[in-house]
Amino acid sequence: MRFNLAPIICLSLALLTAAHPSPYILHEARSRTPAGWTHHRRHESSAMLPLRFGLKQSNMDRLEEFLYDVSHPESPNYGNHWTPAQIQEKFAPSSESIDAVRAWLVEAGIPLDSVRLSPSKAWIEAKVTVEDAERLLKTEYHVYQHESGKKHIACDSYHLPSHISSHVDIVTPSIHFDTIISKRNTQKVNRPAFAISPKKTHGAISMAKLSSNAALDSCSTQITPDCIRSLYGINYTPKSPTKNTFGIVEYTPSAYLQADLDMFASYFSTSSVGKSPNMVSIDGGVIQTDNVGFEYQGESDLDLQYAMTLVGSTQNVTLYQAGDLVEGATFNNFLDALDRTYCTTGGGDDPFTDAIYPDDYWIGYAGGPDCGIAKPANVISTSYGYNEADLSPSYTARQCAEYAKLGMMGVTFVYSSGDNGVAGGGNLCFTSDGYSSQDGTIFNPGFPASCPFVTTVGATQIKTGGSVTDAEIACQQTIFSGGGFSNHFSIPSYQKTVVQSYLKTQKPTYATSIWNSTGNSRAFPDISANGAGYIIAANGQWALVSGTSASTPVVASMLTLINDARITAGKKPIGFINPTIYSSSFASSFNDIVSGSNPGCGTGGFNASVGWDPVTGLGTPKFSQLMTKFMALP
Ligand SMILES: *[C@@H]1O[C@H](CO)[C@@H](O)[C@H](O)[C@H]1NC(C)=O
Ligand SMILES: *[C@@H]1O[C@H](CO)[C@@H](O)[C@H](O)[C@H]1NC(C)=O
Ligand SMILES: *[C@@H]1O[C@H](CO)[C@@H](O)[C@H](O)[C@H]1NC(C)=O
Repeated sequence: MRFNLAPIICLSLALLTAAHPSPYILHEARSRTPAGWTHHRRHESSAMLPLRFGLKQSNMDRLEEFLYDVSHPESPNYGNHWTPAQIQEKFAPSSESIDAVRAWLVEAGIPLDSVRLSPSKAWIEAKVTVEDAERLLKTEYHVYQHESGKKHIACDSYHLPSHISSHVDIVTPSIHFDTIISKRNTQKVNRPAFAISPKKTHGAISMAKLSSNAALDSCSTQITPDCIRSLYGINYTPKSPTKNTFGIVEYTPSAYLQADLDMFASYFSTSSVGKSPNMVSIDGGVIQTDNVGFEYQGESDLDLQYAMTLVGSTQNVTLYQAGDLVEGATFNNFLDALDRTYCTTGGGDDPFTDAIYPDDYWIGYAGGPDCGIAKPANVISTSYGYNEADLSPSYTARQCAEYAKLGMMGVTFVYSSGDNGVAGGGNLCFTSDGYSSQDGTIFNPGFPASCPFVTTVGATQIKTGGSVTDAEIACQQTIFSGGGFSNHFSIPSYQKTVVQSYLKTQKPTYATSIWNSTGNSRAFPDISANGAGYIIAANGQWALVSGTSASTPVVASMLTLINDARITAGKKPIGFINPTIYSSSFASSFNDIVSGSNPGCGTGGFNASVGWDPVTGLGTPKFSQLMTKFMALP
């Protein structure tokens, strides 16, 4: 692990005023140890520890207000998105925070020459002994070991004086764990937690059927782009493709093969044969072809084949390919590339969780970190995710706030809700002593699915033997739609009415110890789309795949077509859509899904039911109604 706070900015003694001692308060605590880690031993008190203090950003208490001001359909400022410069000015950490933290450290006896301010002025670093760190933070440091053999230093909780706590978001290393674990002997670093599930297909798919209208008869067993168009009534050809943008995010080593895109296009979109997405490489992102197999190409091939086909060959798709083959990348590395202030003054990154570039320690990408190199597309679709509990609340809060800021700039973020029902990735749940296990019984919500400032997409299916005109049900084949209630984020105002109504009429009888039953937490997903049995071309073969991984680019494609119509009419892109889609006037724009459930953690999960539910959200889009409603907004 390295720290790259290179140039030392010397502290000015004159700035240091004596701080009045204030009582210590708990700043962060972790109740659960992430999957695969066990306690090894207490850390040596004489060892050196580079403590980093991530400073609070200004005006964060008004973030939701600013976001809703430009995205609530009844706001007079609807669509008046912010510029990056306006965002930076509003949220940069204050000099008061910088002064308070460094004055406290020096008062506490930390030598001046070991206290540094990062060039971005967002982090303060203090090189101290473990003994000093334990005294400063009123904690104990322990060494944990991963099943792979990798070690990590962490504490269970830490404290700060109350006059410092209010200036600090996050201290590292502390309760946070490295969740990008490399598998030994492979280069696979950041695999999709919601891995799509291939079924044995060799010879099973009747491609002959696909070229005729009869193909729609097979939609309950094989989803094609025509099945999707037919299910949701998509009949729109882009009119302003040069002005609109649509992004798909992939994390290396996941990568598409051009031959697969062409194989798919030759059946489903002949005008797209030979077309590639426009790749933006982030932190060494490459379309690698050295590792071949479903686990490497399945996700990228699926996302791009459906996104590129549904928006049509005239609309370019931007591929954000993040991470090199050695370290990979996380959502924070990606966000750094979209927003320079997140990389620098926003200070979202945690060197213990995110990949650090340039990677001169290993053999990876020697450039970077890539800050603000990519223009955010109007709609950005991501089919990867974490378990919320594997990240600390301050880490998820910093990242979630960044989605809100990009929403203020007019970007729509669409994320998959997960494929394991109320369980987390890998079907993991928590045991009562805080460990994640497939035998656990405590629900395990996903992230960023649980962030209130993204739009989270669950999965549906056509009933067995049913047709595209029958009502869909929550996905019950191969995968179960991720859904539930966050333990990190409180309920956003836009969904209070529908979630409280669900909890009133459908309240599950599960013990309150296994799910967040408070009614005060962010509930997901927001919407859903078919996620069962998509035909894709992967590694030269046809395969059937299922997952919210499929539902997400489909929803994102529909939103992209709506943006095209708005842009053509001289309007702004739709930006953050949740306050809009939850408003009562949009209710008729969704097919309510009322049957099926999302089992997991040894339970039947939640039930889809009339109105919003934590399995399929508001339901699946009725494209033309949704288009009409969005076109009616200013
Ligand atoms: C799509 O991308 C290609 C390759 O970058 C470019 O030549 C073309 O002009 C783009 N088309 C539109 C409609 O933006
Ligand atoms: C339930 O969610 C709320 C709001 O996000 C949170 O404050 C609370 O700690 C959560 N409860 C548990 C047991 O995690
Ligand atoms: C879901 O519906 C079934 C059948 O009506 C019922 O037995 C079960 O209790 C419901 N589950 C929840 C969590 O409400």
